[in-house]
Amino acid sequence: MDNMEKLVCERRSVRTFDGRELTADDKEKLCAFIETIDNPYGLPIEFKLLPKMGCPVVAGTELYIGAKMKDSPHLNEAFGYAFEKLVLYAQSLGIGTVWIGGTMDRGAFEKAMELSEDEVMPCVSPLGYPAKKMSVREKMMRKGVKADSRFSFEEITFWNSFDTPLTSDAAGKLFLPIETVRLAPSAVNKQPWRIVVMDGTSHFYLQRSRNFNGGRIDMQKIDMGIALCHFELTAKEQGISTEFVIENPNIPCKTEAEYIASYKLKI
Ligand SMILES: Cc1cc2nc3c(=O)[nH]c(=O)nc-3n(C[C@H](O)[C@H](O)[C@H](O)COP(=O)(O)O)c2cc1C
Repeated sequence: MDNMEKLVCERRSVRTFDGRELTADDKEKLCAFIETIDNPYGLPIEFKLLPKMGCPVVAGTELYIGAKMKDSPHLNEAFGYAFEKLVLYAQSLGIGTVWIGGTMDRGAFEKAMELSEDEVMPCVSPLGYPAKKMSVREKMMRKGVKADSRFSFEEITFWNSFDTPLTSDAAGKLFLPIETVRLAPSAVNKQPWRIVVMDGTSHFYLQRSRNFNGGRIDMQKIDMGIALCHFELTAKEQGISTEFVIENPNIPCKTEAEYIASYKLKI
């Protein structure tokens, strides 16, 4: 998978598909790719292709993909990272996806995933080829969550403390990795990620939105996993060597953003 900037800019949630089945070649590539998907937490995640079940926001495809994992600390961040790798790879093949964590018949999907008591299935996605025109419902949904807008670079990126915004010009080689985080998908487009750059290390924080409580399945921690995925893959592509660490720098934050993880620059 290459050209993260292009993939991230071209990706959007697809909820209206054109009815064609995935070609055997695309399905084979997708299944082969799934075998290679890792995550920085080293947690095993099992993907499974599923038939269509209740998902009222999606039309025009009979195929879905779900993934499950053991209930464990950091399950949401690991899931977000791994499932986003799949989303981006699908994008590179011209296959449309949309993260679905809420608007589905969760019971039916979980049954099809054969969840055991100690497992969770945070999200699923349909798979198919995007229709030329979005359905009216899809257009309304996008409008409702302002799906085409994002915070500015300076609103989500800081220098040394939460008091000093980091401008895109001053971000240097970290610009593109952070820019692809900025453009990432998130639940209800809340974009809860904040990054504090300090001594070359990018510290990732979760600024929780109202009405998003952190439970066993935590959509905003999944968003954080997506952010980590975009950052790491873009840095790698840019030849920037990073090391994933969980070492809380305890940066004071008036808005009580929660520390998630960091990427150190390796020299
Ligand atoms: C963790 C997560 C859960 C989501 N759950 C749903 C969902 O249940 N239903 C839905 O229609 N969209 C869902 N979305 C899609 C977001 O609404 C979408 O990513 C956001 O509005 C930005 O639009 P874009 O993906 O087209 O850039 C989810 C996204 C994420 C990351």
